[in-house]
Amino acid sequence: MKILYATSEAVPFCKTGGLADVAGSLPAALAAEGAEVAVVLPLYRRVRERFGSQLTFLCYDYVNLGWRHVYCGLFSLEKDGVTWYFLDNEQYFDRPDLYGYMDDGERFGFFSRAVVRMLDHMAFWPDVINCNDWQTALVPIYLKDDGVREDRFRSIRTTLTVHNIEYQGRFNPYVLGDLFGLDAGWVEDGTLLMDGDLNLLKGAILCADAVNAVSPTYANELKMAYFAHRMESVMRQCEYKLYGVLNGIDMERYDPAKDPSIAANFSAEDMSGKDADKAHLQRLAGLREEPHVPIVAIVSRLVSHKGLDLICEVLHDMMKLPLQLVVLGKGDKKYEEFFHWAAQQYPGRMSVRLDYNEELSMAIYAGADLFLMPSKSEPCGLSQMIAMRYGTVPIVRETGGLKDTVHPYEAWRDAGNGFTFANYASNDMLHVIREAVYLYKDYPDAFGRLRKRAMECDFSWARSAGEYLRIYAGVTGQVWPAPEAAPAEEAPAAEAASPEAAPATPAEAAEEPRPFEEPAPAAPPAPKAVPAEKAVKKAPARRAAKKTVSPEKAAPAEKAPAVTAETAPAAEPGKRGPKAKGAPKAAGKKAAGETKKKGTAAKK
Ligand code: GLC
Repeated sequence: MKILYATSEAVPFCKTGGLADVAGSLPAALAAEGAEVAVVLPLYRRVRERFGSQLTFLCYDYVNLGWRHVYCGLFSLEKDGVTWYFLDNEQYFDRPDLYGYMDDGERFGFFSRAVVRMLDHMAFWPDVINCNDWQTALVPIYLKDDGVREDRFRSIRTTLTVHNIEYQGRFNPYVLGDLFGLDAGWVEDGTLLMDGDLNLLKGAILCADAVNAVSPTYANELKMAYFAHRMESVMRQCEYKLYGVLNGIDMERYDPAKDPSIAANFSAEDMSGKDADKAHLQRLAGLREEPHVPIVAIVSRLVSHKGLDLICEVLHDMMKLPLQLVVLGKGDKKYEEFFHWAAQQYPGRMSVRLDYNEELSMAIYAGADLFLMPSKSEPCGLSQMIAMRYGTVPIVRETGGLKDTVHPYEAWRDAGNGFTFANYASNDMLHVIREAVYLYKDYPDAFGRLRKRAMECDFSWARSAGEYLRIYAGVTGQVWPAPEAAPAEEAPAAEAASPEAAPATPAEAAEEPRPFEEPAPAAPPAPKAVPAEKAVKKAPARRAAKKTVSPEKAAPAEKAPAVTAETAPAAEPGKRGPKAKGAPKAAGKKAAGETKKKGTAAKK
């Protein structure tokens, strides 16, 4: 299976949010499962500055977009069994920030166009392109548009991952031809039209072969007006191809037993280091050094959907409890001002840092006792998982990925891995904070067991990678894992993962989040040959495959996704476009060709 992962950001190269964490981990996890994986992202200035010396220049070509004929350089780098491609155009990407420019539409229109046009120069012709959010939402559209004229584009299936439906890529329909080089029909037939706007995400949701949200609960929520930012009817229309796959975290990077960035290491078996981390955090944050007072932590962007209004409403009641509060984050002025003011009311008990600071955030995950995340909506959320890994017990509202990862404490049967509340109501939140604080103070043994359960949760990417591969198998009609790779006695496991049986149906995936079960082992796939004649650069060596396909997750055959081998046009990977143009030139010195900037500020 050949996967191209198209993203506008990825760790360690460039990051503004959770998408970068996902794009930095999932591709390697897919490769570890035996897939051939490449990632493509823009060559931003900060990537060139920090990683420029590690990049190999492969070739350049010109991309036609509307009336423009634009230079595009192709660079690559090999990492963890994955080929990373960077598309270069200095006019668009040699800027200090990733987003926030008036021509973001033109920039990411170019990027999406170039992803499709530069396929000819990449190491393999993908079976699937996985797009992410609005910045790469035009990829499925261009594939369909090009596919009308060029057969070979019809062999590629597309999946769209929705990390946050709030950001849709909305523009004035007037710019469709000029900026994106598309015929007016795309708007006139409604594919790209939403509430009078040109809406790129809507187009991708309609045109992709599968859509997945970053948690099963979020996949369900996207069908409801409260969460969907007006996209609920489109999501309901596409329910047949909608999945929810929970993100993972990098379990190696976030390991309290090995993490060099924290004051003292510890593990679920030996928690003694956590006390030292707590004392360290109290010193760092200017809190009183009280080992038996629980520290409640908030590490968050200070924006409304993170549920901060609830905290503002009951902060003074919270502070009547025997707790300390530490807040790290920046964002909207009104929250920054509130927290800044509140911290002054409770010296030694409340500490606020209006900043994004990786080092301090790790000190907080390691040193705090409780992690508060009362989000109004949360597609997946990564910080609650990181907090749990460091034995900081989460208190969350039951929404999106928070609901799928945190299970409420049940004293009567000593179960659960955190505290939860359902309604977006400050008193409900206060009630569970009180419950958590008094469990910590009055029942330290029970709290210790709860903390251990939180630390032992499996949030590894291997689980999610298996689910992604089952979706890819569903849309391509390929069998995954490849049956020829399965030793005879393990054949049933491979069978269970076939496209007819394996991919959980969209509905099931959304209704049955089972993030804590143990995946059953299945057979490793056979390594596949790289089509040498197409290789501009050698395909990455794949790591020894470790299968984690769970046969009991198999869905009945009649519920397989709509796009299968029968409906998919035959692949014609042999037909390729023109070869790379010209001889290598100085890395990225050439800017856009005959381009002209347009005022294209995205509405969202
Ligand atoms: C977005 C979501 C967040 C999710 C992340 C990665 O930033 O808001 O909940 O964890 O994407 O998918």
